[in-house]
Amino acid sequence: MSRVALVTGGSRGIGAAISTALKESGYTVAATYAGNDDAATQFTESTGIKTYKWNVADYEASKSGIEKVEAELGPIDVVVANAGITRDAPFHKMTPDQWNEVIGTNLTGVFNTIHPVWPGMRERKFGRIVVISSINGQKGQFAQVNYAATKAGDLGIVKSLAQEGARSNITANAICPGYIATDMVMAVPEKVRDSIISQIPTGRLGEPEEIARAVVFLVNDDAGFINGSTITANGAQHLV
Ligand code: CAA
Repeated sequence: MSRVALVTGGSRGIGAAISTALKESGYTVAATYAGNDDAATQFTESTGIKTYKWNVADYEASKSGIEKVEAELGPIDVVVANAGITRDAPFHKMTPDQWNEVIGTNLTGVFNTIHPVWPGMRERKFGRIVVISSINGQKGQFAQVNYAATKAGDLGIVKSLAQEGARSNITANAICPGYIATDMVMAVPEKVRDSIISQIPTGRLGEPEEIARAVVFLVNDDAGFINGSTITANGAQHLV
């Protein structure tokens, strides 16, 4: 029986590449999405990966969604908390709504995704958790006080979970992608994006598949001693 992997925000961008790479590596994958039905339908048609719709910011929706996935596919052994949004604005213009939306999806959403699967992982003495953080959680970013706070928070989450899960053979690790060629980065004004690319020594944006490769590595059954770590994948833009 193949292991079941849950990828939040798994039908587009980095998440879609992760879902696909996990499927190609032999996992049974459930990809969640929040709103874009057309993209999800297209994704399922082209990959055969099942998609499930819920809002990760809502604990009850996450819990019942996860119950549905487990009823249909089996116990979830791998969780990739990838779903994330931006609401960029300089701090003096940032509204409480922009703050709360980003905290709800990117940070509380990680809690809501992992918490319902945690007891099962402890019982079965196996679990692999990967949280997709960001270069901007490591270095901060103009106009991203909200987003950077959540992505720095992800690192605290995995470092704490790593200690709690270690004796149950559960690992929790983070990946900090730099600027990757996805809709999220393409939404940045072109002039700003060009200036960002000029700061990347590799001279280009990253590809979603380059992040997916790191996920496949971290969730392997044999990766049990890699726990609480942060992998940076940013083309040498920011070295920690
Ligand atoms: N550093 C310093 N100053 C900056 C700056 C920067 N990085 N970016 C903009 N500014 C300055 C501008 O030059 C401008 O200054 P002046 O008023 O003196 O001209 C001021 O800040 C911005 O003022 P605006 O009124 O034009 O700002 P705005 O309210 O229209 O907001 C913005 C524009 C939201 C900041 C827009 O420039 C933007 O989206 N920037 C990109 C932010 C970014 O990098 N987001 C990352 C998204 S990708 C992602 O998040 C994925 C990941 O994990 C990597």
